[in-house]
Amino acid sequence: MANTEGPAKVRLGILLSGRGSNFLAIARNIGEGKLPGVKIALVLSNIADAPGIRAARDLGLPTQVCISKGRPRAEHDADMLAHLRAAQVDLVILAGYMRLLSPEFIRAFPNRILNIHPSLLPAFPGLDAQQQAFDYGVLVAGCTVHFVDEHLDHGVIVLQRSIPVLPEDDAHTLADRILAEEHIAYSQAIARVAGGDYEIQGRRYVLRADPESAAREAVESILEIRKRTTGMTVQEILDARDEGRRF
Ligand code: GRF
Repeated sequence: MANTEGPAKVRLGILLSGRGSNFLAIARNIGEGKLPGVKIALVLSNIADAPGIRAARDLGLPTQVCISKGRPRAEHDADMLAHLRAAQVDLVILAGYMRLLSPEFIRAFPNRILNIHPSLLPAFPGLDAQQQAFDYGVLVAGCTVHFVDEHLDHGVIVLQRSIPVLPEDDAHTLADRILAEEHIAYSQAIARVAGGDYEIQGRRYVLRADPESAAREAVESILEIRKRTTGMTVQEILDARDEGRRF
């Protein structure tokens, strides 16, 4: 009989505490076939009525709630680990999970836990990163997807996306525009890590892609930045280049 299941998928365990917009962006991308190598095996919340966990239930995904309030971290994290193991999770995705993980939890998934942070790390770790960046007066802001290690917002960086801070921005509009980048960045990073075509050299995440696809990825990312900064379509940018016009 033909095998209709295809290659095994990387099983994601999503941890969240709040609205869950990053989780929903990932779920949407999976639904649209943009992340063919992964599936969501479990959505886990430490807050009983977090909007994100309600949304996961509405989508018919497997969910668990593990209330953290008033419980020692190690004990709570041991319960979370048991749920993740029961769901055979390969890769843990922190999507607005507002609680530090215990060293035991981090050791259980070495370089298999991803987090997204709304700043260009190492700048502005911790809470209210967008407000910190705005108050500091940076001209470029963005988001970072990184592996989780035992220090806050510190592990190896997989991917960053940047945006200019506009003269008319306040901390809220800036946070909204960073969030739009997060929704793209997280799925891109998950695709890369799930694809496994990388190695970690010290603090550096290094793609092992063949030179041709690495070059194609570099050109695509330049085109994308041009598209965003000029408002032109890719075709208009290519036409302008071919005609020797500035773009
Ligand atoms: C995001 O800004 C993320 O960068 C940070 O927490 C927020 C979660 O937002 N770690 P959401 O719950 O995914 O909407």
